[in-house]
Amino acid sequence: MGTYKIAVLKGDGIGPEVVTEAMEVLKCIGNKYHHTFLFDEKLVGGCAYDAYGTPLPDETLNACKNSDSVLLGAVGGAKWDHLPSSLRPETGALLKLRSSLGLYANLRPAIIHKALKDASPIRSEIIGDHLDILVVRELTGGIYFGEKGYREGRYGKEAYDVEAYSEYEIKRIVIQAFEAAMKRNKHVSSIDKANVLESSKLWRKIVTEVAENYPEVTLDHMYVDNAAMQLIRDPKHFDVIVTSNIFGDIISDEASQITGSIGMLPSASLAQDAFGMYEPIHGSAPDIAGKNIANPIATILSTAMMLKFSFGLMQEAQTIEDAVTKVLDAGYRTPDIYHEETTKVGTKEMGKLIVEAILK
Ligand code: IPM
Ligand code: MG
Repeated sequence: MGTYKIAVLKGDGIGPEVVTEAMEVLKCIGNKYHHTFLFDEKLVGGCAYDAYGTPLPDETLNACKNSDSVLLGAVGGAKWDHLPSSLRPETGALLKLRSSLGLYANLRPAIIHKALKDASPIRSEIIGDHLDILVVRELTGGIYFGEKGYREGRYGKEAYDVEAYSEYEIKRIVIQAFEAAMKRNKHVSSIDKANVLESSKLWRKIVTEVAENYPEVTLDHMYVDNAAMQLIRDPKHFDVIVTSNIFGDIISDEASQITGSIGMLPSASLAQDAFGMYEPIHGSAPDIAGKNIANPIATILSTAMMLKFSFGLMQEAQTIEDAVTKVLDAGYRTPDIYHEETTKVGTKEMGKLIVEAILK
């Protein structure tokens, strides 16, 4: 019976459509379990740039800081691609939100729902009937935020981006991964490039030290090129993956594609306290925006992660996840996951079906 303040940043492209459905789901959970969710809607991304000349207005950032958590749709689109980094939605809004809000731990679960197991591009004997990988990606350090610029090099003008990690930054993300593993299958795979990079050598050293405090957890280290291969060859090997910002960016896309349905996958970006920003893994998909065909499930499942990680509302989160499973089991599909034996529905209808399943 709590009151929770949520900054809602719908963003660009399909963001507004999918977030609207997720808000309906939250309202429904509020009614069912007697919680109040107060939504503070603000502009972010290209739409904010069009309105205010910046993709992350102070008003938006302050609304996030004054909330208990943030629900984000997606940002960006071709219209704003020509802008300099500081004004582009991806860098000027998304990366700035991550760093300004201290969201260093990015959790990206890649789960295959039973009803969707044929959607995976990987052969079913490799997948089995279930797959559940959690990618824990460092989100506020490394090459994304390292020194960068242009300089005169041996062959004339050159550009550079520095990959740097402190012991502190590595340790706190690795602890998150081990804590997550303790609640799962107790297996951590740390991904680095320690055969080449100094930052990866330090990464590996810290991972090994942290692992000593978790004797029940099996640890393996993998070079990122090998990990990319093993994810396809034997995805069932993985339970929790922990890795740097850029490797996590790449590996999490790969893991999501193994599930066959990027429109299904939620994510959480967490700060040191319970504060977090929750968003679907997919982007703003401008090509399908406004057509009522986007899959709102990734955003709806992101609200379940919010209830779990920021508000500690485990049962409420489970209710959302169960409702999604029920609707999928009943054969309803948005176009991205539709096949002949199923029933095609739009964004709004999918949201409504999930709300109905929660009320049942
Ligand atoms: C992601 C995205 C972002 C990233 C882009 C949009 C800056 O790819 O969240 O994975 O690289 O982190
Ligand atoms: Mg990415």
